[in-house]
Amino acid sequence: MAIENLMTRPPRSPLIGASILSADFAQMGKEARSVLEAGADFLHFDAMDGHFVPNLTMGPDMCRALRRELPDAFIDVHLMVTDPVAYFEPFAEAGAGHVTFHVEAVEDVPGAAAAAHRLGLTAGVALNPPTEVSAIETHLEAVDLVLVMSVHPGFSGQSFMAEVLSKAEAIRPRLRPDQRLEIDGGVSAFTAPACLAAGCDTLAAASAIFGAADYREAIAAIRGTDVLTGNR
Ligand code: DX5
Ligand code: ZN
Repeated sequence: MAIENLMTRPPRSPLIGASILSADFAQMGKEARSVLEAGADFLHFDAMDGHFVPNLTMGPDMCRALRRELPDAFIDVHLMVTDPVAYFEPFAEAGAGHVTFHVEAVEDVPGAAAAAHRLGLTAGVALNPPTEVSAIETHLEAVDLVLVMSVHPGFSGQSFMAEVLSKAEAIRPRLRPDQRLEIDGGVSAFTAPACLAAGCDTLAAASAIFGAADYREAIAAIRGTDVLTGNR
């Protein structure tokens, strides 16, 4: 059976993506399985090229390895690279379900989204903290998701930049109900309520999950639910 593309599910309840950038890389398969079993809805996969951002992380081979290990996992690839469109096909072949590219790296947002769609991927467009909403507002129709970065991309474990929430508030009313609004960077049990209040429905978190002793508690806390009762 095909994996459900979570990014096309109407945002009734928030989705939590575990950003594997803070996982123990020597135990990646085990770590990814643990966070999914602990309640994460999907894996958030940070690909960095050492050029668009000052860090090198992982590429399609790691995605393929995770797909082989976890055939049912939904993999959201966040491309922090200078030429993201060139990597859509390698990631599609490696088992990704969704790609997000940065508006700062792509001149033709609708063209990039169409290229992702032709490969069977949903498409997201990301904005770095200094980038204004005006950079994407004419292209919102073309994408399945908008990602508001709440840190400067490159590393996990940075502090949440609350000033980006006004961008989320401005974007949400312009999205259709079937389009998602993701936030990434410094998301934790402490910052998630403000993200949700600003209209975000998809939360990516690395250090708040992988830095916790108990992944299940950490994910439930970000979601705002009681780990024992499941109540919000
Ligand atoms: C940052 C990455 C994020 C990062 C989040 O460039 O895109 O996904 O892993 O890490 P935390 O949640 O620790 O801020
Ligand atoms: Zn990310």
